[in-house]
Amino acid sequence: MKILGSEITPYKTYLNRRKFIQGSFASALLATVSSSVLAKHNTDPSIYNQFMNENDKVNSYEEITTYNNFYEFGTHKKHPHLNSGDFKPKPWSVKIDGLVKKPMTIDLEKILSKVTIEDRVYRLRCVEAWSMVIPWQGFQLSELIKMAEPLSSAKYVQFVTVFRPEEMPGQKKRTINWPYREGLRMDEAMNPLTILATGLYGHEMPNQNGAPMRLVVPWKYGFKSIKSIVEIRFLDQQPETSWETLAPWEYGFYANVNPTVNHPRWSQGTERRIGEFKRRETLMFNGYEKEVAHLYKDLDLTKFY
Ligand code: MTE
Repeated sequence: MKILGSEITPYKTYLNRRKFIQGSFASALLATVSSSVLAKHNTDPSIYNQFMNENDKVNSYEEITTYNNFYEFGTHKKHPHLNSGDFKPKPWSVKIDGLVKKPMTIDLEKILSKVTIEDRVYRLRCVEAWSMVIPWQGFQLSELIKMAEPLSSAKYVQFVTVFRPEEMPGQKKRTINWPYREGLRMDEAMNPLTILATGLYGHEMPNQNGAPMRLVVPWKYGFKSIKSIVEIRFLDQQPETSWETLAPWEYGFYANVNPTVNHPRWSQGTERRIGEFKRRETLMFNGYEKEVAHLYKDLDLTKFY
């Protein structure tokens, strides 16, 4: 499909913005598309692919929405797509508490009226050694954190998924210590690559991808990108996280994509991009090394995996 001039940012503005983005996040695979495209559900990959290199074409809307991990709807990759129809992501509010000056329970609509929604095309590398490239819409987590005004004692952020077994059939089984929980160190949460995503392909976030708002931390294994967030807590200690609690010898708190540190049961050196047959090499920090390696310069990544 040809993109109409009226649907995208004027080409020159686009290039200017893109230049800025390339300058600030060289390998971050970012594309920026105008809000009129965002507002539309447009599943044409070429909108994004025309600005991307051959090696990282976006996955199709179909692939991104029918091959998911979201144990609240079942443990098979097809389950979230098949079992999430009864989930109601509207209305939605998020509780922000812990070590902040301004604890609050705030409607998602209100959050969205105060932040800048951007297009961010990111690689997502799952700990199970598959990957996708996904055109997200969202805003920087740092914007929300600043609204809450964390105290200087806040060193970590914990995220909690909604608990609604009536709408999420997987929560009736004890596969995970529900609700699903994740966490980041404060500097990771404030990093400009870290976003709260509210849509993909210009479509409101599909239920199976974590409606209405999920985290995306592109240099970490996919399990850190917690879905359907209802609570964000600021803490002075490293929070408990679901996968680390379940199997600490397999899943660490940091979960940085690292081809040199294998999972005890399989290699992390290569991955299968969904839609491809030939495996590809996994990149350090999932290809975002320039942007985030400095966060870990004093950390032994074989211990803190
Ligand atoms: N968030 C919740 N609440 N429950 C989950 O089971 N799975 C994680 C993460 N977030 C999960 C979750 C895992 S393992 C991955 S790989 C990504 O979501 C998958 O995101 P996607 O289905 O949108 O590709």
